[in-house]
Formats: sequence, C-alpha cells, structure tokens
Amino acid sequence: MKILLILILSISFSKNIQAGSLEALFDSYQQAGVITPKAEQGKLLWNKVFITEKSKGKERSCSSCHGSDVRKSGKHIRTGKLIEPMASSVNLKRFRDVKKTKKWFKRNCKWTIGRECSVQEQVDILKYLTTQ
Ligand code: HEC
Repeated sequence: MKILLILILSISFSKNIQAGSLEALFDSYQQAGVITPKAEQGKLLWNKVFITEKSKGKERSCSSCHGSDVRKSGKHIRTGKLIEPMASSVNLKRFRDVKKTKKWFKRNCKWTIGRECSVQEQVDILKYLTTQ
C-alpha cells in the first residue's frame, strides 16, 4: 500500500514538473496579451532569412544555428559548437526555465533579425517548437 502510494505520488509529481513549466511559460505570454499562438507562423519565422545592418550582407536565420529540422542538433554558425535539439519532443530540457528562454529570445532575435521579437512572434515560435 505504501509503495503504491509513493509510486502514484512520484508519477504525478514528475508529470507536474514537466507540464507545469511549459504551462507557466505559455501562461506568462498569455498575461502579456497573446491570445492564440500560431505554430505555422512560428515555423515561417524560424526559417525566414534576414540581412541586417550588422550582418554586413550575410544571411541570418534562426535555422543558421539551430537547423531547420528542429528535432536534430544544430551547430553554432560562428563557434561550431553543438546545440541540442530545440523540439521539446526530443529534448525534454527545452523551455523549462522561463527566464532562460526569454533571455535567449532577446539575444537571438536581436542577432538574427536585428530587433527583439514581439511576444506574438515568440509564442508562435514556441508553439512550433513544442509541437514538433
Ligand atoms: C548564432 C547562433 C544562433 C542563432 C542564429 C539563433 N540561436 Fe537560439 N540559441 C543559440 C544558443 C548558443 C543557445 C543556448 C544554448 C542552448 O540552449 O542549447 C540558444 C538558445 C535558444 C533558446 C532557449 C531555449 C530554451 O531551452 O529555453 C531559444 C528560445 C532560442 N535560442 C531561440 C532562437 C530564435 C527564435 C532564433 C531566431 C530569431 C535563434 N534562436 C537563433 C544560438 C543561436
């Protein structure tokens, strides 16, 4: 009986941690005014090519480092370092820390697009990455 209880508790506990943080992340965007995240839009933006003032004529996109098959590992375009897959279906560690996720959005949107991504753009991309 005791063992069964522990088992049930630990299963529901681990489920809560996983679903909980993704929910918390989407909740935080909802509070910022996003109503419907659109995965299709997120995918388009992910693969869209930008040439910015800072890129000196070079093409940049999210997929430059993360790849366009988000279930596979990416490779940093400048350092050559391996980047773990972005799709949460194959990488459970993705998007579990709201602060980290938002920090990287800020940094990577600036570098790639030349400006910060709007909350709608961020949540569209997240919807895309969490449904692959
Ligand atoms: C120059 C390379 C590079 C480009 C281009 C790039 N990223 Fe990243 N991205 C990284 C690195 C490095 C990390 C941090 C390491 C990691 O999380 O694996 C990261 C992490 C992230 C994270 C955090 C994921 C998490 O676990 O919470 C998000 C979100 C993200 N990137 C989104 C984007 C988006 C959106 C774009 C396009 C606008 C983009 N990235 C373009 C290199 C890049």
